[in-house]
Amino acid sequence: MAQTKRLIKYSFACNFSKNNSNATLCGIRPMSSWWSQVAMGPPDAILGITEAYKKDQNPKKINLGVGAYRDDNGKPFILPSVQKAEDKIMSKNMDKEYSPIAGNAEFCKHSIKLALGDQNDIIQNGLNATVQGISGTGSLYIGATFLSHFFPGNKEVYLPTPTWGNHAPIFKLVKLPVKSYCYYNSETCGLNYEGVLEDLNVKQSIVLLHACAHNPTGVDPKPEQWKELAAVIKKRNLFPFLDMAYQGFASGDIDRDSFAVRLFAKEGIKFALAQSYAKNMGLYGERAGAFTLITSDKDEAERVLSQLKILIRPMYSNPPIHGARIVNEILGNSQLKQEWLGDIQTMANRIISARQQLRDNLKKFGSSHDWSHITDQIGMFCYTGLKLPEVEKLTKNYSIYLTKDGRISMAGVTSKNVEYLAQAMHEVTK
Ligand SMILES: Cc1ncc(COP(=O)(O)O)c(C=O)c1O
Repeated sequence: MAQTKRLIKYSFACNFSKNNSNATLCGIRPMSSWWSQVAMGPPDAILGITEAYKKDQNPKKINLGVGAYRDDNGKPFILPSVQKAEDKIMSKNMDKEYSPIAGNAEFCKHSIKLALGDQNDIIQNGLNATVQGISGTGSLYIGATFLSHFFPGNKEVYLPTPTWGNHAPIFKLVKLPVKSYCYYNSETCGLNYEGVLEDLNVKQSIVLLHACAHNPTGVDPKPEQWKELAAVIKKRNLFPFLDMAYQGFASGDIDRDSFAVRLFAKEGIKFALAQSYAKNMGLYGERAGAFTLITSDKDEAERVLSQLKILIRPMYSNPPIHGARIVNEILGNSQLKQEWLGDIQTMANRIISARQQLRDNLKKFGSSHDWSHITDQIGMFCYTGLKLPEVEKLTKNYSIYLTKDGRISMAGVTSKNVEYLAQAMHEVTK
């Protein structure tokens, strides 16, 4: 107590000193200057778009920046299967106790089964170390942190160019050097497959791969290319970190979208996997996701799991409970799971149909460009190939908001605004 009083007196004297250097002499800086050296950071590129969109008074304005599904009226969508799961949870009067550090065990089991398939040997032999993460981002972060501590190979991460804007910051935050490999060919609006193979001509490094529906390009390797890539990864002893944020949302089929993950598992490749239920269950704000490391034996899996828990404990202690309960209700009940698979198809089909409508309308308005990539690409986003001046014209002249790289969220395209969008795209690309 006496010591606290002394401290208060001491800091009071320093803070009210007219001379800053006196304060520094006391060893305590005046309150007003603690953060004077902190520079203003740039706003988040995507959230900035939404802000500008909200201010726009044009009744025809369209927001194509958001990465969340919208129905054909442009409204957020609660999956009917999720609604039913929540009703069940409410009727159970469950408690609000803490989750274990690694999250809900049932949730972890459902998640890895969803990724690898129900009957996978890896799961049956206990070779997966799976923890619940804070959606896809948090799961990537757990993985990045684990790799920064324990990866025995080259501690460097190869990211595709381009990639989701949060990948580099996540790996940089844990001080893993970030490198890049070619991915997208802007001439063909498709995959630069030769570039991938050439740039990944390294050994024992970490390689981040989008398991399906690559964000932002919507361009994925074909099954044959995945097979070849798996062989290359084995030969060069690379360590793949698969980011699967869109399982089921991409094609409407959870098995098809996990082709790469299951292929790598079948090939005996040891990998890291981040999963998210944000898109495929529409659980954006619930932050439900999982991180898995595939290990060589059960003992290794247990050791890895113990270290994952040690890393998670000071990060956030334990994950939220509600989203995991929703996932458990759905994946643990075959009837509700069937309904959910139907809901996924509803979302994926709407996106696929919006792609077709956009392409058809561009043709209808007389665009002579090849827009086949709009329907060839997959998932939430379309990398239109629009150049910066064209993007700027779309926003300035038509109140259509999108990221500067020409990426549009197909979720923002509806049967009501697709004509307006196509006409505007045609006008700015004439
Ligand atoms: C490629 C990719 N990875 C991970 C995520 C993580 O999303 P969340 O943290 O909302 O699950 C996203 C979301 O947009 C994404 O596009």
